[in-house]
Amino acid sequence: MSEAVDHEVEAEESPDVDDPILEVDGLKKSFGGLVATDDVSIAVERGSITGLIGPNGAGKSTLFNLISGFYEPDAGQVLVGDSDVTGLPPHEIVQRGLVRTFQTPKKLEGMSVREAMLVGPQAQPGESLVPIWLSPSSVADAERANLDRAEELLQLFEIDHLATERATEVSGGQLKLIELARAIIAEPDILLLDEPVAGVNPTLARKLAGFIEELNESYGLTFFIVEHDINFIMRLSDRIVVLDRGRVLTTGSPQAVKSDSRVIDAYLGGGGP
Ligand SMILES: Nc1ncnc2c1ncn2[C@@H]1O[C@H](COP(=O)(O)OP(=O)(O)O)[C@@H](O)[C@H]1O
Ligand SMILES: [Mg+2]
Repeated sequence: MSEAVDHEVEAEESPDVDDPILEVDGLKKSFGGLVATDDVSIAVERGSITGLIGPNGAGKSTLFNLISGFYEPDAGQVLVGDSDVTGLPPHEIVQRGLVRTFQTPKKLEGMSVREAMLVGPQAQPGESLVPIWLSPSSVADAERANLDRAEELLQLFEIDHLATERATEVSGGQLKLIELARAIIAEPDILLLDEPVAGVNPTLARKLAGFIEELNESYGLTFFIVEHDINFIMRLSDRIVVLDRGRVLTTGSPQAVKSDSRVIDAYLGGGGP
């Protein structure tokens, strides 16, 4: 597969995934002559926090768009749990338990933060197939339940004081927390986060890392996270997948990936700084 031989992390390159919640097999996507995703195969272990890293333009956001149904692949397959979701529209993939956030959050014009929690790209009230784990009581009035859940999530992320603020008026960092809360209201089994701490100050980034760990440990929520902040993603992740020029360069523990010279070369663009 790779021309690199005798590498110290060779043994880590195909770590077993016992119970994949997400499988990507031979995924391809071109834009005109540009191959953005070139035969990518990846598995994400259920209950894990898996990081996806790689230089700018490596194809990370494209891969997220393919997995979540925002782009249609030219070839390959996407499985969420036991479901083949290849080619399904985003809202149907949400119903199968996979939700994503965007590198640049959508504008939430004309809405309060509370209203923003209740509308948008995620599952509609009552549509979700997974249990309401944040509000265990099975409430007949789905709207009321959603409102309660929105309130709980705003409290969990310590942004409940912003509920009546206009969504366009909050800071960039607060918007990231709102994005995360909006994603979780859809009750996903796996959450794809595209650069959750880009533009977020270090204090809020630490807080966000804490929330992600809490959701992972307490609720078993699986995370697949693209993040440019290497320290953030290395500290948080059980496993790291490295993309370079549309291909999987390597997969392994944060420690193994960090010391892999090919990863360092990819980040330096091959020719050094
Ligand atoms: N919708 C699109 N149309 C044309 N080219 C695209 C589109 N989306 C991504 N690309 C190209 O695909 C490559 C990978 O982009 P992207 O997935 O955004 O990389 P990353 O998120 O790793 O920085 C880039 O060369 C980018 O310009
Ligand atoms: Mg990107």
